[in-house]
Amino acid sequence: MESSLQITAATPEAALLDLPWRTPLEEWPAEVLAALPRGISRHTVRFVRLGSRVFAVKETRDHYAFREYELLRRLGKLEVPCVVPVAVVTGRADDDGEPLESAIVTEHLSFSLPYRSVFSQSLRPDTATRLIDALAVLLVRLHLIGFYWGDVSLSNTLFRRDADRFAAYLVDAETGDLHRELTPGQRAYDLDLARTNIIGELFDLEAGELLDEDVDAIAIGDALVSRYDELWRALTDVESFSADERWRVDERIRRLNDLGFDVGELAIVTDFDGATVQIQPKVVDAGHHSRRLLRLTGLDVQDNQARRLLNDLDSWRAHADRLNDSEQLVAHDWLVHSFEPTIAAVPRSLRKKLEPAQLFHEILDHRWFLSQNEGRDIPMPEAAVSYVDQVLQHRPDEAMISKDDDEDHDLLLG
Ligand SMILES: Nc1ncnc2c1ncn2[C@@H]1O[C@H](COP(=O)(O)OP(=O)(O)OP(=O)(O)O)[C@@H](O)[C@H]1O
Ligand SMILES: [Mg+2]
Repeated sequence: MESSLQITAATPEAALLDLPWRTPLEEWPAEVLAALPRGISRHTVRFVRLGSRVFAVKETRDHYAFREYELLRRLGKLEVPCVVPVAVVTGRADDDGEPLESAIVTEHLSFSLPYRSVFSQSLRPDTATRLIDALAVLLVRLHLIGFYWGDVSLSNTLFRRDADRFAAYLVDAETGDLHRELTPGQRAYDLDLARTNIIGELFDLEAGELLDEDVDAIAIGDALVSRYDELWRALTDVESFSADERWRVDERIRRLNDLGFDVGELAIVTDFDGATVQIQPKVVDAGHHSRRLLRLTGLDVQDNQARRLLNDLDSWRAHADRLNDSEQLVAHDWLVHSFEPTIAAVPRSLRKKLEPAQLFHEILDHRWFLSQNEGRDIPMPEAAVSYVDQVLQHRPDEAMISKDDDEDHDLLLG
């Protein structure tokens, strides 16, 4: 009997039916493909454009496709940064009736960069460290919800610019598993594999002359471990103090907020005679700054971008002499009179080079640079014009870095 194509999806995407499922993914015609930077992979992965959306299609065995789809769905519900699954396509066959591999479809994560593209574009010496910091945060967040990754590496992660840092997203969940809680042994194993993989990946970059010779790959692998341990301890350690040092409760919460986390539940235990107090965060949620900015302005951005925007909001408020007005009201005025006009000052054709919040962050940096040079305050509209002229025009388009030849693309961007 001839097999029939089946698309399994949580929300029906009828447009998926238009894709050439009877052809092996390797041979899909250029018209349906979107040339975007892609990381290294064992399976065939291609990006396709359907209307205004871009999807990633990966060929793999049924069993793995369903497993990955399910895991990504659960991770999404738990609000960890990862790619969003769209569908699993099974029952594929070519025109001669020969079976073809199944596929998993995910939404292309816009403005994301595979690590090799980050290196081929960035000249900053601390790029590797910034990627590692982002990966450490992602790994801690995954471990906190009980996710064992099983194959942590730079190529299984996507990076998005987040103000002057990066935010990391999980892209490949195939080897992962969700548990109620991870044992210290499981965490250590995942972390150790991460370290080994990263060192290998950095050596590869070095061989490809994408990494400065002075960068010490092993030291960077070790840095992942220490960043991870530091953050894990800050988020989960038990802290004890005497009962008259209650300010330490607030202090702990403030420290966690600084790291970008909200405390959802804090266990406070006093001993028998009430002389000492023990506290331990039980539930922590990332996104402290982005939640606050969202509440105040409706802008939904990444956490460090939000931190930067909130700082600007604060100084705008002080400047406008409105420290006594309600924060909500001031935030609304800042949005309408500062944020929106600044973004609108960037020509539409250049706006898709970076996310709006990232543009605003870069314009703030540029304004600082101009004021240093000229020894005067620079208004935002002037900074925006100068930024477009001197910086943005010369930057690659990160939403859609395109290359004509797909193979070349693989070589260049891995
Ligand atoms: N939704 C997506 N958005 C952006 N890029 C994606 C997406 N899905 C996949 N990619 C790109 O494709 C690459 C390969 O995907 P993935 O890691 O899932 O393949 P794989 O064959 O399972 O890898 P491995 O060799 O680790 O098993 C990723 O590194 C990433 O660059
Ligand atoms: Mg992979």
